[in-house]
Amino acid sequence: AYEIRLSLVGSEMCIRDRTYSLLRDLSHEHFVSGAKLAEKYGVSRSAISDALHDASEAGIGIFSLTRKGYRLAEPIELLDLNRIRAALGSSANRVDVEVLASIDSTNSELMRRAIAGAPSGMCIASESQTAGRGRRGRVWHSALGSSLTFSLLWRFDRGAAQLAGLSLVVGLAVSRALANLTDGSLRDPGSIGLKWPNDVVACGAKLAGVLIESQGDMLGPTSVVIGIGINVNLSEAMRASIDQPVTDMRMLCDRLPSRNLMLARVLQELVIALDEFQRAGFRTFKSAWTAQHTLHGKPVRVLHVDGSAIDATVKGVADDGVLVVTVKGKDLHIAAGEVSLRASSK
Ligand code: BTN
Repeated sequence: AYEIRLSLVGSEMCIRDRTYSLLRDLSHEHFVSGAKLAEKYGVSRSAISDALHDASEAGIGIFSLTRKGYRLAEPIELLDLNRIRAALGSSANRVDVEVLASIDSTNSELMRRAIAGAPSGMCIASESQTAGRGRRGRVWHSALGSSLTFSLLWRFDRGAAQLAGLSLVVGLAVSRALANLTDGSLRDPGSIGLKWPNDVVACGAKLAGVLIESQGDMLGPTSVVIGIGINVNLSEAMRASIDQPVTDMRMLCDRLPSRNLMLARVLQELVIALDEFQRAGFRTFKSAWTAQHTLHGKPVRVLHVDGSAIDATVKGVADDGVLVVTVKGKDLHIAAGEVSLRASSK
């Protein structure tokens, strides 16, 4: 009989390097013997069993059968530097990708590296995060193999004051990359849109989020860590544990698109967008961004951090990415960070 070990959510746990390597040795088509794996790694069979148990705890379905060994319940595509580099094309010389099995948060790690002098274009992707962070102090949930979590370091020669609108530009680049993916047969590229300031959404639910953190002063050079989390193939349990409507690429595509390709395409779009942003700021993106804004012209409820709420209608975004809404005929300018936005039913 099969022994099926599947954990419910199991997202925010640390994946040891051995567990991660072992996953690359497993197949979903045939069993691989525990003895062979033990021989390959020079460890006991129980060490192999423990390491694969960790993978189950992290949400990977693994069948284990006495005398036959281990088999993946479903194929998983782990991040692979060679595949990422091959898909990066000419952007390969602008970004330097490092893949980790596990880290607290790719944003935190990249900020530590930035402070230690890492160059612009450094990208850290991790298969799992033990303390993934979202905007406004929220937790970002992700799981091994079913999300894409990475951060890109970009150094600007201008001060933080000149970077207004950057987070909107990043959201637009991510949505463009995902809408143009060809390998998963996205059923309706038009279904992917934006929600101010930088959520990537589809069918009213969140598909990807962006967390931007910067270091530097208002006038001098600024280092920006751009963190991106994309929902790829979330389990039901994972979906249920998230306190807002979420969707994933699996739901939008006929086949599951490659995470390696997805990462490369997003990085390509980011390089193009960040170069243009460095040259001309948000202004040149404004009309393309507005065309993708799912709440443009719609009634919304603007929720402030202090708990107060305003009912308004979205008028557009200003040249610096600030949201413009109308309330009782008057324009109100709203900066990201202060508020969150909900579509209202009126
Ligand atoms: C949001 O709240 O919408 C932003 C989510 C950003 C999540 C990503 S995952 C990679 C990077 N590392 C983190 O800890 N957060 C960002």
